[in-house]
Amino acid sequence: MKASVTKGLGQGFVLEEIDLADPTGHEVRIEVKASGLCHSDLSVATFIGGEFPVVLGHEVAGLVTAVGPQVTQVKVGDHVVGSLIQYCGACVNCLAGRSYICLHPSATERAAGEPSRLSWNGAPVAQGMGLAGFAQEALIHENQLAVVPDEMPWAPAALIGCGVLTGAGAVLNSANVRQGDTVVVIGAGGVGLNAISGARLAGAGRIIVTDIEDVKLDRAKAFGATDVVNSRTTDPVEAVRDLTGAGADHVFDFVGVRPVTAQAMQMLGKGGGLYLIGVGAMDAGLELSALVALSNSQKVQGVYMGSSELKRDIPLYAAMYIQGRMNLDDLITKQIGLADINAGYDSLKDPTTARVVITDLS
Ligand SMILES: NC(=O)c1ccc[n+]([C@@H]2O[C@H](COP(=O)([O-])OP(=O)(O)OC[C@H]3O[C@@H](n4cnc5c(N)ncnc54)[C@H](O)[C@@H]3O)[C@@H](O)[C@H]2O)c1
Ligand SMILES: [Zn+2]
Ligand SMILES: [Zn+2]
Repeated sequence: MKASVTKGLGQGFVLEEIDLADPTGHEVRIEVKASGLCHSDLSVATFIGGEFPVVLGHEVAGLVTAVGPQVTQVKVGDHVVGSLIQYCGACVNCLAGRSYICLHPSATERAAGEPSRLSWNGAPVAQGMGLAGFAQEALIHENQLAVVPDEMPWAPAALIGCGVLTGAGAVLNSANVRQGDTVVVIGAGGVGLNAISGARLAGAGRIIVTDIEDVKLDRAKAFGATDVVNSRTTDPVEAVRDLTGAGADHVFDFVGVRPVTAQAMQMLGKGGGLYLIGVGAMDAGLELSALVALSNSQKVQGVYMGSSELKRDIPLYAAMYIQGRMNLDDLITKQIGLADINAGYDSLKDPTTARVVITDLS
């Protein structure tokens, strides 16, 4: 089958003919129907690194074509969405309903010594995040797949797996935003837009969105932002303080560069929470004054995958989309072929582009 292989840091995405193993145990083989270009894969390919060669792609939706003998949760013909959340289902965190911080995530991978799921010219190829969705087919542990209704279109379905789970989940699960709360979303990209949707669903009183591109802010308004601030031309801390009076209840940082995160902290009101989601640079982080944080009773929380339970939340967001309560269509600016991933990521630099999805896998 064809797959897009990343051979090393900065080497982009190259189409190759690679082999995919047959399903064993809890593995499920899917025919990939749509695969989203999330920024995190580009970060892995350009500055984070990891095992190479690797097939990336972690926003994937497809049709189940074969299942291993121990699979019980999906069947051939099901429409499924993958998630990079890897969980064992048996550790204390899984049992406490916090599978996104499973203690044994490698339970969804093949053990050392077993043949690799992916290989290229007989040599093993790493499987990005247990998924490897930049390919015509994928072999994925059933725990990383959720079934969605057949009527759910493929492209928006794929986006649920990461951008939607992360953005909406940060608001609904991690922060547990309540009706009337004041929310600030920093960075109205493919993930941040879903935080706006989450805040709207939660009944937030005010949804203030900051970005450095007016076109992104216009889109943010279409998703439900009540106020927008261009932080290139306006001081975002002053703007949030003016709009809220007392500061925000929840600030979500989808950018993750130190000056922006420092500003995010200053936007918080008493009792407020700052949520760190974006990683814009290797040194992303925050210098925190204990005195300020404690005297204002503020918290800072790192958010992995929107604290999502994928088996609950992926079908939930799909149902909300089908019911017309969650805007996923306007996330998709462009649909491309599997061979066009480099150009697809380039087009994400254009502020008019929200998300790019591979839908031509021929
Ligand atoms: N924590 C997690 O589990 C998780 C999951 C998925 C993605 N992510 C991360 O979330 C981040 C966002 O991903 P994305 O796909 O939405 O990226 P994106 O590039 O689509 O969006 C980023 C947005 O931030 C805006 N921006 C840039 N600099 C800014 C600034 N100084 N102030 C305000 N806005 C600014 C950009 O214009 C853009 O609209 C990435 O760092 C990604 O790696 C984290
Ligand atoms: Zn992602
Ligand atoms: Zn576990």
